[in-house]
Amino acid sequence: MENIFNKIEEIAFKIDNLIKTGESGYSKSSNSTGDTQLKLDIQSDEIIEEIFRGVPEISAIISEEKEDKLELNSSGEYIVCYDPLDGSSIVDYNLSVGSIFGIYKGGLTGNDLVASIYIVYGPRVEMIKTLKGSKPKHYRVVDNKFQFISEVTMEQKGKINAPGSTQKNWYPHHKELIESLFANGYRLRYSGGMVPDLHQILLKGGGLFSYPGTTDKPKGKLRDLFEVIPFALTFIEAGGEAIDDKGVSLLELKPEHLHDTTPCFFGSKDEIEKVKKAYSV
Ligand code: AHG
Ligand code: MN
Ligand code: MN
Repeated sequence: MENIFNKIEEIAFKIDNLIKTGESGYSKSSNSTGDTQLKLDIQSDEIIEEIFRGVPEISAIISEEKEDKLELNSSGEYIVCYDPLDGSSIVDYNLSVGSIFGIYKGGLTGNDLVASIYIVYGPRVEMIKTLKGSKPKHYRVVDNKFQFISEVTMEQKGKINAPGSTQKNWYPHHKELIESLFANGYRLRYSGGMVPDLHQILLKGGGLFSYPGTTDKPKGKLRDLFEVIPFALTFIEAGGEAIDDKGVSLLELKPEHLHDTTPCFFGSKDEIEKVKKAYSV
């Protein structure tokens, strides 16, 4: 997988440059989730496809911005699922955004994920790389190279509450959960980009990020293969937890379709315990 990791670093530099110098605004097309694509979404996807085409270890790619799986190299053993640019609704307002990669082997369920990587394009460019079975590793770009900073371990409990989705459509038990966290001293930290929002919780050691099912979207918004499962591995290997609204680990997810979504909760152990109580699971 080393070759894939190196190529992801190359991609990160290119997308960072694209964000800084590329054109803002929408294109004329939309993706399979129905989101109108930004020019940056399409161009980031093209950068990744072009680089991954030259990686023999990759058999196929599945992108948030492509309807179907794209077969690449028949001899490859890994399928890479990715969200080229996470944070389409905030990038043109100059907030931090990211790219997310899930590397799967043998199938496309949570259990088949062997590594996940995300990049944060913020005031600095950072990367978290997680291999199944080991602690996530934190890197930062220094002198145009990714430099290893430290391994990441979460605490039992944090202080941050990052509640996603449209509040007027929350179910009553979800509203109670979020309000009880605030009543217990948690502070609101929500930018609208799951990469920087989860990155902050992870590096500060704890808290809760939630993107629930709602009355208008019972299956939530975040996509299993490119967003939910890759972050689940990172949080779980860091000593936190990642569950759905039934209390099941997000690494147990078995998506039926490439663009399926799932209600999701990522956090440290104390907060996830509170989610389970609130959802009676
Ligand atoms: P994308 O830009 O890839 O479509 O994903 C955006 C996601 C995620 O980053 C974020 O947590 C969520 O959308 C925010 O949604 P809300 O604005 O509904 O809270
Ligand atoms: Mn996304
Ligand atoms: Mn995206």
